[in-house]
Amino acid sequence: MKSYTKSHELYQRAKLSLAGGVSSQFRLSERPHPLFYEKAEGARIWDVDGNEYLDFTLSQGPMILGHSHPAVLQAVRSAIAQGQLYAAQHVAELELAETLTRVIPCAELVRFSLTGSEAVQAALRLARAYTGKQRFIKFEGHYHGWFDNVAFSISPSRLEAGPPGSPCPVPWTEGIPPEAKDDVIVLPWNCLDLLCDALRKHASETAAIITEPVMCNNGCVPPEPGFLEQLREACTEYGILLIFDEIITGFRLAIGGAQSYFNVVPDLALFGKAMANGFPISAVVGRREIMELFANGRCIHAGTMNAHNASVAAALATIDELNGNSVTLYPRLFQLGEDLRSGLKDAAETIGHEVLIQGIGPVFHFGFTSAKCVSDYRGTLSYDQQKYVRFCDIMREHGVRLIGRGLWYVSAAHAQGDIEQCLRAAREAFEQMR
Ligand SMILES: Cc1ncc(COP(=O)(O)O)c(C=O)c1O
Repeated sequence: MKSYTKSHELYQRAKLSLAGGVSSQFRLSERPHPLFYEKAEGARIWDVDGNEYLDFTLSQGPMILGHSHPAVLQAVRSAIAQGQLYAAQHVAELELAETLTRVIPCAELVRFSLTGSEAVQAALRLARAYTGKQRFIKFEGHYHGWFDNVAFSISPSRLEAGPPGSPCPVPWTEGIPPEAKDDVIVLPWNCLDLLCDALRKHASETAAIITEPVMCNNGCVPPEPGFLEQLREACTEYGILLIFDEIITGFRLAIGGAQSYFNVVPDLALFGKAMANGFPISAVVGRREIMELFANGRCIHAGTMNAHNASVAAALATIDELNGNSVTLYPRLFQLGEDLRSGLKDAAETIGHEVLIQGIGPVFHFGFTSAKCVSDYRGTLSYDQQKYVRFCDIMREHGVRLIGRGLWYVSAAHAQGDIEQCLRAAREAFEQMR
């Protein structure tokens, strides 16, 4: 058994000064309790008790090149030696904007923020200002950050969620103004018929459809063939903006994100996480005509820390690595993801567990269920979450760090040997759970 003694002591101490001992809700459910880490390099991370883990969390996605990537660290060191924050324009920021407009299909103009949640807010504000309409469509099970207006129907129970054909907006948390739910229309993901019904009824009051292009936050469910294309057509037909939330898919499915991968171009899109390999930056990007509302001041976006020198330098270095090596890097990431997925599935099924793995390339969801395919949020409720928690506990004991809700990320720092190490641990876990 691994020892978590130092982490446990620190966690008890943390609870006296940090609410819940953590700085983000998602960290509260870490097991056996929130752990403290002190070092991370490549595909590995070490906790304060000296336990080493092979990391498939990538810190919730950002570390696409692996931890402590030398080129990113070097770029950040040089940048901050010159100055840290000008709260004014700098050349690197301009170069980063120019880079995004080159690699992301919908990016004619760009604005930078710090987090994905902020970028989502910027896009929704733009959509309202541009269309003059108020409401927006979001899909059940999709996550677009923690702010009030989008904190609906992220992971409702079947009982709360309402009829499958007309889900109700279920607040994620207390403290959301009751009127916030009037602006959000919740629909099941991947269901064109219900989408068309909703548009016939609500198009005249709907500013935007916001969607993860792959439902990464629940089950990593890909779009059904044609679904994104139909969303695109419907938005154009009804004068509604299509917003792709590429906070997870961006720079991961392809250098130009899911919009490149699926060849469907939204009006606006949001990038963050993998863009700067662990440094805080996000971008709202989109059609010139819409983004111009920020330029002419009809619509406001601000932030003291926006385009922070360290984050911009990290983003430039990260994209440079991804882009410079894209001919080999993305096929390799996809191959590693495929090897891991097929190895996990073979091992689980040989040992007698029913599992389902869905996802694309280096991001996928693994869970225990007898379902053969899941296409929407309600389908993800068939996953045996308790069994998965037990699996994660055993994997952690074998030195593999996983996200407790089933999402896996593979980085460019993972090697074939890491996949094999992980599969050996998984086989033992499946045996123990038999
Ligand atoms: C799809 C998606 N959108 C938005 C966000 C919010 O990003 P952040 O946590 O950087 O605010 C997340 C975070 O996980 C996400 O997965």
